[in-house]
Amino acid sequence: MITPILLCGGSGTRLWPLSRKSYPKQFVPLVGDTTLFQASSQRLSGEGYSAPLVLTNSDFRFIVTEQLASIGIDPGAILIEPTGRNTAPAVLAAALWLNKSDPEALMLVAPSDHVVPDAEAFRQAVEAGVPAAQNGQMVTFGITPSHAETGYGYLELDTAELPDQPTPLGLKRFVEKPDAETAEKMFASGQYLWNAGIFLFSVKTILAAFQAHAPDLIAPVQTAVDAGQPDLGFLRLDPAAWDQAADISIDYAVMERAENLSVVPFGAGWSDLGGWDAVWRESGPDARGVVTSDNATAIDCDNSLLRSEDAGLEVVGIGLKDIITVAMPDAVLVADANRAQDVKKAVAALKEKS
Ligand code: GDD
Ligand code: MG
Repeated sequence: MITPILLCGGSGTRLWPLSRKSYPKQFVPLVGDTTLFQASSQRLSGEGYSAPLVLTNSDFRFIVTEQLASIGIDPGAILIEPTGRNTAPAVLAAALWLNKSDPEALMLVAPSDHVVPDAEAFRQAVEAGVPAAQNGQMVTFGITPSHAETGYGYLELDTAELPDQPTPLGLKRFVEKPDAETAEKMFASGQYLWNAGIFLFSVKTILAAFQAHAPDLIAPVQTAVDAGQPDLGFLRLDPAAWDQAADISIDYAVMERAENLSVVPFGAGWSDLGGWDAVWRESGPDARGVVTSDNATAIDCDNSLLRSEDAGLEVVGIGLKDIITVAMPDAVLVADANRAQDVKKAVAALKEKS
């Protein structure tokens, strides 16, 4: 059995105004009818998977329980982080929690804000990684890169040949978020895959990796788990101990330093919906490259996304080219489609104003 570890603490500022601090992108139906969090939970349920362990913060705890209940999934446990400390302490807390009952348990650490349209192919890739994970490997999932992205981790393969069937391959190293020049070189070499941000390992293996590469995290996170307060079905990690844990991602704390890494290449479609351009791509643009939501109309437009998130608000675009428009009841974004990554600047600018 595999225990899904669902991480949903991020805030997704590049998808403003739909994604808000109080209601971030993983909890909104961005592509299709279910939310990304619900789709991630569903993808990792059923045969072979036990109830998920969810890591989130206090603000999102009821959204998590409501969204899981509405798709009939019972969480195994929900751990509440007193403050966001990034993914390393969160994954460590999950491992220490599971270690109480089963050190051999396999954990599948999954972000809650990705789109993976072919859930069955994804489950097969996970299955292919299971023997390696049982053997002490930390299994990553690799995506064939399409450009020199600097927002992702890179996995250096020790072979140039990709297998037809999902099979774990050896990895030379893991490079988290390279600078632009390094990313260009890695992309051009054809020897690298993108890290999908999804990991499979046993509790025992990841605890040994933390011990080897980030030992200072263990004591505070162990205390935060042990001194955690049960509260209405959640476990609130102890705030004083949690505050002592460094703010660092699992990629920097462990993966970049580890040697027991494998990768299962995954070619069936993956997007981390990092901005409106990705949402536009994943929503199936028409022949002219246009995507409209309900209550949005495009007349003679090209390569544009028009969304109304308010049933009482009509959005109409005429003759637009390369434009993203997202209208909410209280805010409207109008942006050059090539500047989708700059939307986080809007959030920063508004924060400064308030
Ligand atoms: N519970 C919890 N607590 N979840 C968190 C926290 C936290 O403090 N911080 C982030 N998360 C969640 C996010 O909501 C997301 O689902 C996941 O953990 C990954 O965090 P991101 O902040 O989105 O990471 P990233 O996108 O910059 O980088 C990671 O993902 C890339 C692929 O999308 C890395 O693993 C990269 O190597 C990878 O390429
Ligand atoms: Mg991300």
